[in-house]
Amino acid sequence: MASFFIYTISISYLLIMLPMFICISDQAFSEDISEAIAMKRMMKTSHLHFYFHDIVSGKNPSAMKVIGTEIMSFGTTFIIDDALTEGQEPTSKIVGRAQGLYAVAAQNDLALLMVINYSFTDGKFNGSSISILGRNHVFDDIREMPIVGGTGLFRFARGYALAHTIWFDIKTGDATVEYNVFVQHF
Ligand SMILES: *[C@@H]1O[C@H](CO)[C@@H](O)[C@H](O)[C@H]1NC(C)=O
Ligand SMILES: *[C@@H]1O[C@H](CO)[C@@H](O)[C@H](O)[C@H]1NC(C)=O
Repeated sequence: MASFFIYTISISYLLIMLPMFICISDQAFSEDISEAIAMKRMMKTSHLHFYFHDIVSGKNPSAMKVIGTEIMSFGTTFIIDDALTEGQEPTSKIVGRAQGLYAVAAQNDLALLMVINYSFTDGKFNGSSISILGRNHVFDDIREMPIVGGTGLFRFARGYALAHTIWFDIKTGDATVEYNVFVQHF
């Protein structure tokens, strides 16, 4: 794909190709670097498919309750470092980790606020990450959550994730959730 220099700012088609190498002057608090960077015209759309394993019970939980006493009530908050796998089984190949937190942010419902960094460790997106910030009404069949940004190949990312529970143990809170992520990036 041809890449070329554009000297005007096109809000929707910006790609900073060289941020690692650009020497930002240490004198100015901010500066316009659009002439110094290469920009590509088209955004790509990628589809990612993986499974999220949230383990609350047992000796090695990947989700730890940090606020709250009951299993799940208004305000209950968990910090997580969950494995993301290619297949549905927890023993399937690990393709990344979901690190962040979720909290019950509804008084009369089981709806979570998700603030999670999904970082990938396999394939072309190894080392790249997406950030999800959104509401997760856990008993809905499909929950949609926005992707608010990313790192690595996902710089300037935006898009959405569709989460679908495969398995949920209401007593312990352990769950396996299927994710279909649609993400636009350069
Ligand atoms: C998300 O993960 C990526 C890759 O591990 C890391 O570079 C980035 O700093 C993380 N972002 C946040 C907000 O934790
Ligand atoms: C992902 O990247 C890291 C760091 O560059 C590397 O050590 C690791 O082997 C890579 N993993 C895969 C599965 O390619």
